[in-house]
Amino acid sequence: MALSLPGFLRRGPQPLLGIDISSSSVKLVELSAGAKTGLRIERYAIEPIEQGAVVDGNIENPEKVSDAIIRAVKRSGARSRSAALALPSSAVISKRIMLPAGLIEEDYDMQVESEASQYIPFSIEEVNLDYQILGMAAQSTEDVEIMLVASRKEKVEDRVAVAEMAGLQPMVIDVEPFAARIAIDHMSSFMPNHGEGLILAVFNIGQSNTSLTVVLDGQTIFERDQAFGGQILTREIMRLYGLTFEESEQKKRAGELPDNYAAELLVPFVEQATVEAARALQFFFTSTPYSRVDRIILAGGCAVTPGLAESIADRSRVPTEIMSPFQGMEVASTIRERQFRLDAPALMVGCGLAMRRFDK
Ligand SMILES: Nc1ncnc2c1ncn2[C@@H]1O[C@H](COP(=O)(O)OP(=O)(O)OP(=O)(O)O)[C@@H](O)[C@H]1O
Ligand SMILES: [Mg+2]
Repeated sequence: MALSLPGFLRRGPQPLLGIDISSSSVKLVELSAGAKTGLRIERYAIEPIEQGAVVDGNIENPEKVSDAIIRAVKRSGARSRSAALALPSSAVISKRIMLPAGLIEEDYDMQVESEASQYIPFSIEEVNLDYQILGMAAQSTEDVEIMLVASRKEKVEDRVAVAEMAGLQPMVIDVEPFAARIAIDHMSSFMPNHGEGLILAVFNIGQSNTSLTVVLDGQTIFERDQAFGGQILTREIMRLYGLTFEESEQKKRAGELPDNYAAELLVPFVEQATVEAARALQFFFTSTPYSRVDRIILAGGCAVTPGLAESIADRSRVPTEIMSPFQGMEVASTIRERQFRLDAPALMVGCGLAMRRFDK
């Protein structure tokens, strides 16, 4: 699903760049239809954004963000200028509603708009609105269930503006958790029985935010955000070694820190992240009828933190793996394999956005 941008919402098989604008970086992904397998990753780039340019999903400094997009496009070598962008979940209101089955499209448009006006705290002229028919409603044979999504126009316009400033043409405006779900569903299609019946807990551990998404049989059954992320460790590195944020970030990723780093900083961070994950799962158990998860999947840049997956698996006693959004895809020969393996979990949203190219 995507929020429609009147006049230029077009989807199709033309090259489309997934552009994930987040607090640490701009992440670009381009996929194509592979020769043998279904899909192929052609290129990607992760281009740092200065601290404070994107805060809680809000674009505070458009110039710095558009500069990072320009660098990402350049570095990746992408020629396409069509882009799919995502809004953070904090910028949208989404709601499941029921409407009678079998209406024509125009009627759904109208009904959705009138339903939406009940849930949105501002006038309908101020929002971009979209919806997707999810399927027949569970309790009724006459109704369909619809996912309605609304966002303030200014939130959409902020993102469109930085993309256009960088010379891109936004074709799709998605919502982060939906884009993530596309990547999660792709990954679960490789699980035994296509993941049917499995309760999957996906942690996206980023720079300042961690989200937990729990999925069962193609439905998101729980979502929660926590203010926890890799910047905690980066700041500790700055403090202990007297480095700048950028230096600390670079050395952390490269694993180029003095011997005492593991015991002094890394191990306590892993412990803290494990406690945060356990707490989030506890929230899931206490606020839903479910009492188990079958697999934990770690995404986001911090997924590859040394020892983290093992620590979470130990504590939760649930098989834990690091997400590979590009499972089953061909990888272009220009992509450096070792770095790609470290970067891939952070590309979950970017990958989901790039997959919009193949939406029917
Ligand atoms: N190889 C690595 N080893 C350890 N940490 C890493 C590695 N690569 C990235 N990170 C950390 O992951 C974090 C960035 O992850 P990600 O790109 O998912 O965040 P983000 O989406 O920008 O943040 P947010 O979702 O909070 O807005 C940073 O804290 C970074 O230090
Ligand atoms: Mg993120």
